[in-house]
Amino acid sequence: MKLESKVAVVTGGARGNGLASAKLLAAEGADIVIADICEDMPTIPYSMSTPQTMEDAVEAIKSAGRKAIGVKCDVRKSSDVEAMVKQTLEAFGKIDILVNNAGNSSMMAVADMSEQEWDEVLDTHLKGTFICCKYVVPHMIKQHSGKIINISSVGGTRGFGLGAHYCAAKHGIIGFTKSLAMEVADHNVNVNVVCPGTVWTPMMQGIAAFFGLEDAEAKEQFLAGHLFQDREITPEDIGRTVVWLATEDTRCITGQSILVDAGWTCKAP
Ligand SMILES: NC(=O)c1ccc[n+]([C@@H]2O[C@H](COP(=O)([O-])OP(=O)(O)OC[C@H]3O[C@@H](n4cnc5c(N)ncnc54)[C@H](O)[C@@H]3O)[C@@H](O)[C@H]2O)c1
Repeated sequence: MKLESKVAVVTGGARGNGLASAKLLAAEGADIVIADICEDMPTIPYSMSTPQTMEDAVEAIKSAGRKAIGVKCDVRKSSDVEAMVKQTLEAFGKIDILVNNAGNSSMMAVADMSEQEWDEVLDTHLKGTFICCKYVVPHMIKQHSGKIINISSVGGTRGFGLGAHYCAAKHGIIGFTKSLAMEVADHNVNVNVVCPGTVWTPMMQGIAAFFGLEDAEAKEQFLAGHLFQDREITPEDIGRTVVWLATEDTRCITGQSILVDAGWTCKAP
């Protein structure tokens, strides 16, 4: 096991890509803190995780033999993040790995987008990543080690129709990562980005339902043309890349973005 006695915080870890990452980090020996909002958001057209979703996630990790706690935390709020970091340090004494995965999206043209809609997406992805780093980085600097893995998207490297807010946030995460990587390099803290392609999680299912599409039909529409290799990207494909960036195998990789998109972005449009 490559992460024995490590402690990992995974935001938005109650389901989807975050849960897959949490389980795979645990399989490598890490104890896990799942930090999730567990509450719906007014302009997001599908449900977020619930307290029960988070409890089930924590139980799944515990039953695999690791320690785990769930903390209700909205990454947009400093007070929630500060309290989550405090609770983590009380429970486990340190934070070795931070996965900034919490995310959401609505689909809206810029001219029709409310400021609240913009804020709920930008504040979750970009401000949330900043706030979590702000409160975790000092501990990593003090212990002279740490791995931060920020989750962007193919939408951090190109535009999506009806996704200007999402793409702005995801591009921002890549710039933020490069700058933070420079700041903390001398403290033995590595900061990298994973950019998933289309993964069939509750987020994608929620967006499909917003367009009134049945699951199979939506999968066909969303996945067709998004894959170069003939394979579906799973949450575990994202999780395995997160784990890799959390290990010493990648000790000389920092400030980088890794696309896990089965070749989508190397295809001509
Ligand atoms: N699924 C995809 O196709 C895809 C593609 C590229 C990038 N991503 C990114 O992967 C990450 C995970 O997405 P997913 O597809 O697993 O979605 P998901 O909806 O299944 O999971 C997201 C989790 O984040 C939580 N969350 C949302 N807002 C939060 C907030 N403000 N504070 C704390 N928790 C919050 C939700 O409750 C949920 O548990 C996101 O950053 C997303 O943008 C997903």
